[in-house]
Amino acid sequence: MHHRKKIIVLTGAGISAESGINTFRDAGGLWEGHDVMEVASIEGWHKNPELVLDFYNQRRKQLQYVSPNPAHFAIAHLEKFFEVIVVTQNVDNLHERAGSSNVMHLHGELLKVRSSGNPNLIYDWDEDLCLGDFCDEGHQLRPHIVWFGESVPMIPQAISLVQKADIFIIVGTSLQVYPASGLIDYVKPDTPIYLVDPKANEIKSHHRVHAFAEKAGIALPEIANQLIQNHA
Ligand code: OAD
Repeated sequence: MHHRKKIIVLTGAGISAESGINTFRDAGGLWEGHDVMEVASIEGWHKNPELVLDFYNQRRKQLQYVSPNPAHFAIAHLEKFFEVIVVTQNVDNLHERAGSSNVMHLHGELLKVRSSGNPNLIYDWDEDLCLGDFCDEGHQLRPHIVWFGESVPMIPQAISLVQKADIFIIVGTSLQVYPASGLIDYVKPDTPIYLVDPKANEIKSHHRVHAFAEKAGIALPEIANQLIQNHA
């Protein structure tokens, strides 16, 4: 069998928009009615842990009422023809539920929690998390989310994946949050880059990209078919 091409897909909140999960920056700086810094920063956690826990409890619960959309499924389908790795900024589980088997969550996962005293103690979690829920060492548990003000431990791994990409696809991210936004700088010069976002033409980039100014659920199935015909 010939060598399979490696596709890296970088996704952001926009890929889950058609599944009914709000993006961060489309609603005037409010995320589900909250200032992002209140619920998604380490300062916010220290200031009002109860509010933060409640916020993520709602997000975790919401996973039960949303489903993957055609964009998630198209990416999963590519695995039949390519080596595909999804690098997502999203904390939902819609890529996995669509069938993607190789998903790196740069910003953490709603269905995991970790010790606030020992970052290596990470647990699967599918219910509400409350003050008084402790890790095995007696520290308060917190959402397993990378907040503003925290480093992104998986970024070196993501960089080395992007460096090896034969095809790079970016979907539904405003590319405003560093360091994920810098990943595009690591693609090989001859690697084609596809950018799918209704605002694709406003997302300024010095790279030569194939821009698709469309919703992910429309564009991804078409792009996947094209790739399968031309590159598989
Ligand atoms: P943003 O909210 O910044 O950007 C979402 C992008 O999705 C925008 O460019 C929209 O135009 C686009 N979009 C909207 N609907 C779409 C659709 N149907 N199909 C395709 N694209 C669509 O979200 P992110 O770039 O993901 O971090 O934000 C990055 C990080 O900032 C998040 O991971 C989060 C946030 O703070 C944490 O919570 C740690």
